[in-house]
Amino acid sequence: MNAKSCIICDTNTILQKQHMSFCSLLQWPYCLRRCSYCNFNKYISRSSSDNIMTECLQKEAQTLLQLSQVSCITSVFLGGGTPSLAHPSTFAAVLESISQHAHIHHNAEVTLEVNPTPLGRSKLEDFYHAGVNRFSVGVQTLNDDDLVVLLRDHSSHDALRTIEEASRLCPGRVSVDLMFGRPGQTVRSWDTELREVLQICDDHLSLYQLTVERGTQLFKQVQRGEVTVPEEEVTAEMYQRARAVLHQHNFQQYEVSNFARHNAVSHHNLSYWKGRQYIGVGPGAHGRFVPLGEGGVCREARTQTLEPEVWMCEVQKMGHGTRRRIQIEEVLVMGMRMTKGITHKHWQRFSPHVNLHHIFGSSPDVQDLQQSGKLILDERGLRCSYEGLALLDSILPTLLLETERIYTPKQKDNNSFYNAR
Ligand SMILES: C[S@@+](CC[C@H](N)C(=O)[O-])C[C@H]1O[C@@H](n2cnc3c(N)ncnc32)[C@H](O)[C@@H]1O
Ligand code: SF4
Repeated sequence: MNAKSCIICDTNTILQKQHMSFCSLLQWPYCLRRCSYCNFNKYISRSSSDNIMTECLQKEAQTLLQLSQVSCITSVFLGGGTPSLAHPSTFAAVLESISQHAHIHHNAEVTLEVNPTPLGRSKLEDFYHAGVNRFSVGVQTLNDDDLVVLLRDHSSHDALRTIEEASRLCPGRVSVDLMFGRPGQTVRSWDTELREVLQICDDHLSLYQLTVERGTQLFKQVQRGEVTVPEEEVTAEMYQRARAVLHQHNFQQYEVSNFARHNAVSHHNLSYWKGRQYIGVGPGAHGRFVPLGEGGVCREARTQTLEPEVWMCEVQKMGHGTRRRIQIEEVLVMGMRMTKGITHKHWQRFSPHVNLHHIFGSSPDVQDLQQSGKLILDERGLRCSYEGLALLDSILPTLLLETERIYTPKQKDNNSFYNAR
């Protein structure tokens, strides 16, 4: 156990390993080709071997787990990109190294995103033996012509066979991703398609409204007028129709896009939306946790380096490829630029243990700023007044000083992660 004195209350309180539930997201960034609508962080060509990628995923997971001092992992999500392209032994190895640094709860949900190609299907059993116990299948549509327009590399037949195989391996733990608002789609065709899906799906569905993302092929096609997507009112009707049809079939909606029956909700998704802590491992992965290993007390949002080759070099050199850490100073400086300032809710996401009143409420310098009408600290949060906003540069040093007073650890660990940056 890594024990340190509490730097907030200045008592001998011991900070133990974090016992709260904790999730882990692993990102596999490669795809066989680019779907026309997708702007996720994914790469088609690759020069490195699976072995290097595996080693780096293991190494980064180990670094972040040590830093987070978490004791128990309650869910793992293997996402992408196309993680079903990876060799099952990759994830077996990564899960094994996670289990060497934290206890993986015996009921932990381990989800793999699967592209329903014949190759993906043929590997499901091996993924299952590697430790996966839930599959999320990217069906997108059961209409073969639409699959071609979307540049998917599977057919509706492939999708059905993949769902069948996944449900054989993990009954009650298979999810299907579908998109609506697709080019040429109507409410009627969507209704028919949904009813078809309901004949073959398991107990979880994710329905995403197609977003025409800038930089994608679909975006250019829409701009050039080669393709049209349904009007907003039509997609709104599709959504309402889906909610009603799924409700009739005993699916409960538990989030904007997610529906489950027989209580087959995704615990990983739920933890994420509930704002729980998680580590994000792999190129472009996001994480959010309190790095207790550094004596820290505030939650950081982390983003790992996007490009796989660069990320691998960083992990090999430093043990992690963290590109960006949004820390409390950044939250303060960025937040105070807005007229609405920083709300208590926003601050709490990054600093769950110390609130705005605690930091700024009793400071004589901050009180001066309030009395002169430049700064407001109230039940909404902390913000500049109309006059104060024009003087932000002169207000920030006072606020930063108070923040530093609270958050700077009294004893610095020479081997700390901060020094490694
Ligand atoms: C990151 S993708 C990865 C899953 C896997 N590679 C696949 O394509 O099936 C996860 C899901 O996001 C959804 N998605 C991706 N791009 C989208 C977009 N532009 N609009 C709406 N949903 C999208 C798709 O339904 C997809 O299954
Ligand atoms: S939708 Fe999935 S398979 Fe297609 S490019 Fe995006 S991540 Fe890759």
